Amino acid sequence: MVETALSLTGVGVTYKGKNYTKEALFELSFKVERGEIFGFLGPNGAGKTTTIKAILNLIYPNTGQIEIFGCPASKVCARKRIGYMPEIANYYWYLTAKELLLMYAGILNIPKALALKRIDSFFEIVGLQDAGNVLMKNFSKGMMQKVSLAQALLNDPDLLILDEPAGGLDPVARTQLRSLILELKNKGKTVFFSSHELSEVELICDRVGILKEGRLLKTEKVKDILNQKTQHQSLENYFLNIIKPE
Ligand SMILES: Nc1ncnc2c1ncn2[C@@H]1O[C@H](COP(=O)(O)OP(=O)(O)OP(=O)(O)O)[C@@H](O)[C@H]1O
Ligand SMILES: [Mg+2]
Repeated sequence: MVETALSLTGVGVTYKGKNYTKEALFELSFKVERGEIFGFLGPNGAGKTTTIKAILNLIYPNTGQIEIFGCPASKVCARKRIGYMPEIANYYWYLTAKELLLMYAGILNIPKALALKRIDSFFEIVGLQDAGNVLMKNFSKGMMQKVSLAQALLNDPDLLILDEPAGGLDPVARTQLRSLILELKNKGKTVFFSSHELSEVELICDRVGILKEGRLLKTEKVKDILNQKTQHQSLENYFLNIIKPE
């Protein structure tokens, strides 16, 4: 039976400040099934990060519902099954990478020995073995991305949400990220990520959703996009055609 990992129904988000109102999402509805890799695409400012923040209950939609494995996004039962890698990480710069991750493990109630095992094995996969004792303030952008990804994986989440994970990663690290995401899928995990790297998305995603100006224009299986006997020979081609001005 198909299980829904993530479901959004009629989600609307309006940012309100003292002197401004910005309607960022309009009636957003879609589902992601358990075990899927779902790519969330859209031009800059389309509302991808806003959607992700709403899923994480970091901002509150003014309309609609969001559920994670059938549990409302605002509840602990939803959040404890999520791992999240933010678009821009803001860490405690005077902790080492290992101290930082152990701090998160503490918040997540993960026993120290298990956390250390997970951190060491992740660092080995992404080639950060020698960087565990380096202060975060001395990390390069790509190294930071890797720590951010390690943080998202710490609790062995059923639903991994990544906001532009490939940004700043070198080609080797991108390949590692790709294998890691596919491995997670093989373990039955669900991965939802935003990206502008359409060639990466094309290689690993089962389905994509395309957002423009806060509205979901399409959700489509990647294999159907590539099989279409139309002019779209690549996801990029399809994307550009969907988002082009009327
Ligand atoms: N805190 C905020 N207050 C007001 N407006 C905001 C706020 N955060 C985002 N916005 C606006 O909401 C819209 C969607 O922004 P969002 O960050 O979700 O886009 P995005 O699709 O993630 O873009 P990018 O690809 O550049 O990361 C933009 O017009 C942005 O200016
Ligand atoms: Mg964003």
